[in-house]
Amino acid sequence: MKKIARAHTNIALIKYWGKQNAALRIPLMSSLSMTLDAFYTDTYLEPSQQEQFYLNGKLIEGPEAQRVFNYLHLLQRRYGKSGNLSVHSQNHVPTAAGLASSSSAFAALAAAFAEYYQLAVNETELSRMARLGSGSASRSVFGGFAVWQKGTDDQSSFAYSLDSNPDLDLQLLAVEINTGAKKRSSTKGMQAAQTSPFFAPWIKRNSLELSQMINAIKNHDFTRIGQLAELNASEMHAVNLTAQPGFTYFEPTTIGVIQLVHEMRQNGIEVYYTIDAGPNVKLLCQLKNVKIVKEKLVSAFDHVKIINASFGPGIQYLDNYELD
Ligand code: DP6
Repeated sequence: MKKIARAHTNIALIKYWGKQNAALRIPLMSSLSMTLDAFYTDTYLEPSQQEQFYLNGKLIEGPEAQRVFNYLHLLQRRYGKSGNLSVHSQNHVPTAAGLASSSSAFAALAAAFAEYYQLAVNETELSRMARLGSGSASRSVFGGFAVWQKGTDDQSSFAYSLDSNPDLDLQLLAVEINTGAKKRSSTKGMQAAQTSPFFAPWIKRNSLELSQMINAIKNHDFTRIGQLAELNASEMHAVNLTAQPGFTYFEPTTIGVIQLVHEMRQNGIEVYYTIDAGPNVKLLCQLKNVKIVKEKLVSAFDHVKIINASFGPGIQYLDNYELD
């Protein structure tokens, strides 16, 4: 029996937000992420009369399914394979965490493809394969901290492990503000961002901040990691606001959480934020502050849900496992 591929979601602390080659998903900047234990996707493939995509036991049709099929066709061409496949995926993202992510989805799909055809691919090649589905998925092949080096072509653009099991107290609190579908996909958002007058400076800043972040991680310096992650995320969102025409993923509560983070720091609670292509905020803090940060959030915003996460592993293959 074929194994099931499991990939965990990752959160970029130094963001990918711009492509040099859209078809191959070669980015304009390198990025760095933390793989999370709390959120993951399980996927396996089966031969089938017709192409089908089941997510959480439900048959999916339309553009979401088409993206999956197009991706499988691309991999089949790349490895000289053919035949219709049925995809079975289960997203283990706590109910409506607002974290359903293409990073775990395409990393699990790449690994499921390698498993189905018994391809002898190493992690570097698996990362290239995942990248072709969604850029951020290239980093979910690895646990702990991973760096996606931008490269210049298909061969040179892949992620590698910076530290698969960091000896660092770094907790992530996912603050769910709105779990609805994104108004603007990451693919579209990063394309629009390129019209900002700050786009060129953003690329320069990213490369400086990446090397500073790698140093901070090597020094186990939580404060520096938090400061850099927050600065980098704010720059990404500043580029969106200053695009022509401008746009933002923020909602009023997103700003409210940012203000609360500022306030908590002024009061000696060390917490930082990072935000991706949506309104939800992810907070970075240490274990000793998880309780107080949660209490402050819940008392300020009674409708928000908060989910704890820390470091998760890279790709796993599971035996004898039944998807619900
Ligand atoms: C803001 O990987 O979803 O989360 O390659 O177009 O599928 P595509 O984009 P995607 O973009 C992720 C953007 C981000 C930052 C990051 O994860 O680095």
